[in-house]
Parts: sequence; C-alpha cells; structure tokens
Amino acid sequence: MSNYNIAVIKGDGIGPEIVPQAINVLNAVGEKFGHTFEFTDVLMGGCAIDEAGTPLPQETIDTCLKSDSVLLGAIGGPKWESLPGNERPEVGLLGLRAAMGLYANIRPAMLFQPLKNACPLREDIAAKGIDMVIVRELTGGIYFGERGRDGDVAYDTEKYSVSEVRRIAKVAFETAMARGKKVISIDKANVLDSSRLWREVVHETAQSYPEVEVSDMLVDNAAMQLVKDPSQFDVILANNIFGDILSDEAAMITGSIGMLASASLGDTKCGLYEPIHGSAPDIAGKNIANPIATILSAAMMLKYSFGLTAESLAIESAVNKVLESGVRTADIKDETTEKVVGTVEMGEMIISEILR
Ligand code: IPM
Ligand code: MG
Repeated sequence: MSNYNIAVIKGDGIGPEIVPQAINVLNAVGEKFGHTFEFTDVLMGGCAIDEAGTPLPQETIDTCLKSDSVLLGAIGGPKWESLPGNERPEVGLLGLRAAMGLYANIRPAMLFQPLKNACPLREDIAAKGIDMVIVRELTGGIYFGERGRDGDVAYDTEKYSVSEVRRIAKVAFETAMARGKKVISIDKANVLDSSRLWREVVHETAQSYPEVEVSDMLVDNAAMQLVKDPSQFDVILANNIFGDILSDEAAMITGSIGMLASASLGDTKCGLYEPIHGSAPDIAGKNIANPIATILSAAMMLKYSFGLTAESLAIESAVNKVLESGVRTADIKDETTEKVVGTVEMGEMIISEILR
C-alpha cells in the first residue's frame, strides 16, 4: 500500500467540474488496489489572478514541487483576455512548466474504436487508424526566448541549444522503442538555423537507437500529412511551437478532443498531467463537459509518475467499457449513442466499472 500526494489545479472554465471526476476515479482506484491519494488544491491561471493577484502564486510552485505529481484541469478564458501579455493566465502555466523543469510534453492522439464515427477525415483514411504520440519540447524555443516590443515593432526569439534538443530527442526515441519504433522529427530546416541544429542533434541522438526508423518532415508538410494519411505517424518529435500547433491538429482529427490526455515530464518522477483541451468557458457550469480526458490524464499519472501500470489500465479499460455501452457526453455523441450523460454521471459510470 502506498500513499501519494497530488497537487491539484482545478483552474478555470470547466476545470472545477472535470477535475473532481478524476479525483473520484483516483480514489476508486485507491480503494480497489489499496493505495491512498491525498489531494492539495492550489491556484493557477485566471482563478489565481482573481484570488491572489498573480497567475502563479509562489505557494503553488512550492506545493507542486513538494508533491508526487500535479493534476491540472484547464486555465484561461475571456474574462482575462484583455490583460497585458505578461499577466495572463497562460503565463502561470508556462511558469509552472519552467519551475518544475517539465521539458517533455507527451500527447497521445488516437482514434478510440467506439468513437470512430467521430473522426472528421474521409472514411478510407480513418479506416487505416490513428495512433500516434506527439513528443513536444516544452520549456524552450520561442515561448521562452527573448521577446519585446518597441513601438511598431515586436519580436520573439526561437533559440535551442544542443542539450535541450538532445534531451527531448531521447524522450522521443525512448517513447518510440516502447511503441512502433518510428520517429518523425518536425522542423523548418529549409529556413531556420534553429531547425538545422535541431535536425543535426536528432540524427546524432538517433545513432544510439539503431532499431528506430527516423525521418525529418518540414512542419508545413506535416500539417498536410496529418490530414492526408495520419496512419504514417507513430512518434512525432517537435519543438515547442510546432508541437503546440500539430498536437491540436492531431487531436482534432481523432474527433475526440474531449478524450485526449497529456503528461509533462522532466528529470524527476513528478509530472504535470492535464487534458489536451482548453477551459471551454462557453460550456462551463452546465455539467455537460466531458471529464474523460482528465480522467485519462490521471491514468497517465499512475503509469508515468507512480509506475502503477495495472491501476492505469484499470481506468483505461473502464473508460472503454462505458463507451462501448453506448454512453456518451454531449461532445462525443453520434447516431449510435444510447444515452447522453453529464460530467458527474460520466465520472460515476467509470467508477462503477472500476469497482465492478
Ligand atoms: C497547450 C496550450 C498552452 C501552450 C497555452 C495555454 C500556453 O495551448 O498546452 O498546448 O501553448 O503550451
Ligand atoms: Mg496548445
């Protein structure tokens, strides 16, 4: 029996609705497998601006660093959109990633079989399947480079060092070793020096992984290939900004953005786990948001941070069983849906599958 301390950032919009469902699921897993989870709420994002006057209070950083892992809902919303750039909710998230040293963002995007009708791509393309992991560099590049504004001129800097590229490339190759052994590295090496360095270091790192097939793809072509033939991708390795953009595209082509989880990891076991989707302020407070992406993020936490593989699988298979029974939240309903349920009910159904 083990005890785990989890820092919880419910965040904004639908965050306070979906995160409690993931907490309930973790408690159910604890009950079934004999673990205890302790949760400590901390503020980040818009709610932190409102309550503490800053998107990332120091106390939040301290609590997250002391915890075994962090569970996050989503942050941001129209209420804070007119704030100056360096005071927005997003600054909290970027700051927390940096403070925790979370340089590797793992975003699996797959077509859930019970939801295959939701794929917006042509049927023959969808039939070939979608099952990829995007490995995005998370603490470097243009999001963290020097920036400024001088009257009519503004600039942001894309900058990468060999060591920054090498450590994220390693994560991609390790991820590929545990999957389809294929890495496609994204860059814009026909234009950018930072991309030429990226390419060089990726190929040098690849030499330690002779079993992995590695190739390069220009980011504009990658955007096209993702809709033309997503089945060609196993692991996508990308810098911060290209990974941000392509991971939204990859999530969208699965038709199930409300289903996709993510992990942000560094050199320690303490990671940050969050759904790929945003805070969806338009549907907040209505008990209609899909909690599954957050629940599956909790499953990723069990696997990646705590090494609890069976427990993680128990959550994934409970989710699958509920979907197979034809139950859906509103965002994933289609003509085959037997029953549309709300956020709380979806959480409860997943829990009863786990405890069955
Ligand atoms: C994401 C989000 C964030 C990012 C924003 C909210 C700063 O889009 O996690 O993909 O760009 O990293
Ligand atoms: Mg994004």
